[in-house]
Amino acid sequence: MTKITIATTKYGERINPNLHGQFVEFLGSGIYDGIWVGEDSTIPNYQGLRKDVVDALKAIKPSILRWPGGCFADTYHWRDGVGPRNQRPTYFNENFGTQQLENNHFGTHEFMFLCELVGAKPWFNINMLSGTVQESREWVEYVNRDTETSLVKERAKNGHSEPFNVEYWGIGNESWAGGGNYTAESYANEYRKYASAMPSFGHGLPWTETSQELKLIAVGPDGNKPKERVDWTKDFFKELTKYRKPKIDGYDLHFYNWNLTDETDTVTNFSLDAWYRVINGAFELEEVIWEQAQLIEDGLKAIPQEDGTFATDIKVDLIVGEWGNWHNIDLTAPSILWQQCTMRDAITTALTLDIFHRNCDKVQMACVAQSVNVLNSLFLTKDSETVLTPNYYVFKMYQPHQDGQKLDLGIITKKLGRKTEPGLQQIYSFASVKENLVTVNLVNISANDAEEVELIFDQKLLFKTGEVLAAEEMTDFNDFGQAEKITPEPAEDPKVKGNMVAINVPKASVSVYQFELVK
Ligand code: AHR
Repeated sequence: MTKITIATTKYGERINPNLHGQFVEFLGSGIYDGIWVGEDSTIPNYQGLRKDVVDALKAIKPSILRWPGGCFADTYHWRDGVGPRNQRPTYFNENFGTQQLENNHFGTHEFMFLCELVGAKPWFNINMLSGTVQESREWVEYVNRDTETSLVKERAKNGHSEPFNVEYWGIGNESWAGGGNYTAESYANEYRKYASAMPSFGHGLPWTETSQELKLIAVGPDGNKPKERVDWTKDFFKELTKYRKPKIDGYDLHFYNWNLTDETDTVTNFSLDAWYRVINGAFELEEVIWEQAQLIEDGLKAIPQEDGTFATDIKVDLIVGEWGNWHNIDLTAPSILWQQCTMRDAITTALTLDIFHRNCDKVQMACVAQSVNVLNSLFLTKDSETVLTPNYYVFKMYQPHQDGQKLDLGIITKKLGRKTEPGLQQIYSFASVKENLVTVNLVNISANDAEEVELIFDQKLLFKTGEVLAAEEMTDFNDFGQAEKITPEPAEDPKVKGNMVAINVPKASVSVYQFELVK
């Protein structure tokens, strides 16, 4: 029996909807086939954008969409992707072993249309490796300026006279690796240049009306390298203490839950040990967030103000711009980094979103890697078929947490007693409140055992709804040409007795319950 106490009268920090961000890149079939099928396709589409994916993406309120990479951003020239499609250049995409022609049919306007359809804010990542400062600046001018410059006239000619007002701009991607093999110091110097060249659009000037502020996001560390990630953040912020500080609003850490050590573990065929090993791997991110949030705070405190005191009011958001499970490469997959998603991936997706929600005072934005056909996907596509993976359903079920406020929660549950993963417990949980609705999720990581869970609130609430995402077998997944094996089902009504709610939680499952506060 697991007991969970939830305090519903003291509201904690707000859960930024940007924690449910998405990421799409020109990698494998991440965009072509996955999102873009073209206007002439027999696959139903909105001016070339795959209708089934767009509709389903919209339903989870994705808040943020990051594009065009990833590594691809570091060789992407935005000018190749604007203007009449039949006049756009074709080149070869070798990103992460993609090996295919890139005809640039999906460019700035197509991406912005996607954002508009799904209701997400765009995050553009500029090319810091093979591009130039001038090119990046012009991209910002092209998308955001609202006065009649030549670039703005060009944008209007290409179909959009109104500015797009793109707020988030990533300056480089993984600059410690494929993005340039920079040191933190050399990256900081490049960052200063790019950040300083960005147009201000008169933001903050009392005599102008336009005030679209750009939010500039610097490259944070490789979250999977314990020593390097500490050094990178310390060194980067130390560089910023020297002379004057450039504009910086966000710091983008990447963390993958690597599953590459056991060759027998394939994405859909793995042992019980591999089930727990991968689930356990997802928890490291929480410690990385604590560590990096502290390092950012320390780094910012050391930045001197002009009057000689130290900065106390500079805010730089910690962002996890890429996260997800990265399993052994499947050479039979239809495209590179295309991974099936089993219940194991759904469990780690739920636990990762729980980490973000629990630490919503420390992390403000996060993007799953990636939305379609790449790694920890929400969608898999094959010709005209689209599969909603169990990960998709976790995002959908967790949607009510967006913009909610965190609630204090205490949990007493079984330790699983595993020698290799001693910290693992059977049930994990998170609760939030929004308006008069309390949302509680329960993740049962046991591959074999259901569990009786007692929720004990500090007042009597009214049960509203319950949904369960569960699998018969831990290796189950949703496949093409078949009915979905893993799909949210209405939960049995829980037994309510006063402030206490008793729930039977199935093995290998993610459940979400909602209760109404009684005034
Ligand atoms: O998400 C796949 C790749 O992983 C991205 O392009 C890169 O940024 C990361 O290494």
